[in-house]
Amino acid sequence: MIDGKKVLFSGMQSTGNLTLGNYLGALKNWVSLSDEYQCFYCVVDEHSITVRQDPATLRKRARSLLTLYIAAGIDPVKNVLYYQSHVSAHAELAWILNCYTYMGEMSRMTQFKDKSAKHADNINVGLFAYPVLMAADILLFQTDVVPVGIDQRQHLEITRDIAERFNGIYGDVFTIPEGYYGKVGAKIMSLQDPSKKMSKSDENPNGSIYLMDDRDTIIRKFKRAVTDSVGCIAYNDEQPGIHNLIDIYSACRGITPEEVVKEFDGRGYGEFKIAVGETVADMLASLQKEEARLTSEKAYIDGIIKENAERAAYYANKTLRKVQHKIGFPDRIR
Ligand code: TYM
Repeated sequence: MIDGKKVLFSGMQSTGNLTLGNYLGALKNWVSLSDEYQCFYCVVDEHSITVRQDPATLRKRARSLLTLYIAAGIDPVKNVLYYQSHVSAHAELAWILNCYTYMGEMSRMTQFKDKSAKHADNINVGLFAYPVLMAADILLFQTDVVPVGIDQRQHLEITRDIAERFNGIYGDVFTIPEGYYGKVGAKIMSLQDPSKKMSKSDENPNGSIYLMDDRDTIIRKFKRAVTDSVGCIAYNDEQPGIHNLIDIYSACRGITPEEVVKEFDGRGYGEFKIAVGETVADMLASLQKEEARLTSEKAYIDGIIKENAERAAYYANKTLRKVQHKIGFPDRIR
């Protein structure tokens, strides 16, 4: 608890072009939850280097991601928005937690298996230990709730296991966090292959809507979205393409899938695809406009980066010192 509020932590990697999946699965929920909780929203640049990055691009992307958080509607005064690499407690706690995590449990992580297949020439120790750094991110703030997409569920479960194991040895050190998954939008699928999640790293750019895509591109991608030959707009697992479009429309409009089905009852796929495309394009146009405006406010963004890193470090160090003491590191002399 901080000032009588429960704590929320979440983060995104500053790699690749963010997709509509990142927005609907995470960012949009972050905004709606930010009044209720004390929130920490991190740009997890340390996670990004588990895959080789171009330094200048990585730096630029971290800044635009932080700007995008604000553009999406997260208040940078009430909430703490910062870069992971500016708060050294993340790496320090991750090292400690590495010593309380087993090789066997890490090798079962599906994201590690997928990523090591994709980057077979660079299966580094960081990629393997990635979920431990994520556990450190979350546990540092005594987090109650973690809003993420469904692809992060396994990482959240291992975080809880590590925290429970640690608490079992040393007493109640960490709060055990809960995942928060949106009712719709927690798993947005590729527009070209609705059995695969929409991903920044998809080789086919038509499968993903990027947050910076222009209106024509967005509508064109939706028009080409893979559907089926049933010809009826219904919400079921046999029509995964239509299911995905219903999820997208429902998450953007804040209505239930049932309401979407009712709205488009008796209408054709072509008409529905254009409606979804226009809704997404309108939503992203206002996000893009706000991002462009904020990007030009250099001093304002610099101020947020500096102040928020200090606020994050304050809370993170409180937990880190407690952990260091519990495991037997010498206390600091004041
Ligand atoms: P990342 O950067 O891959 O994705 C950021 C967020 O977007 C969600 N997401 C999706 N949601 C729905 N449909 C999709 N197609 C889709 N694609 C991505 C992700 O679930 C995530 O919520 N390991 C994390 C970052 C991280 C983190 C943390 C998150 C590091 N430390 C601590 C929470 C708490 C990741 O790589 O997310």
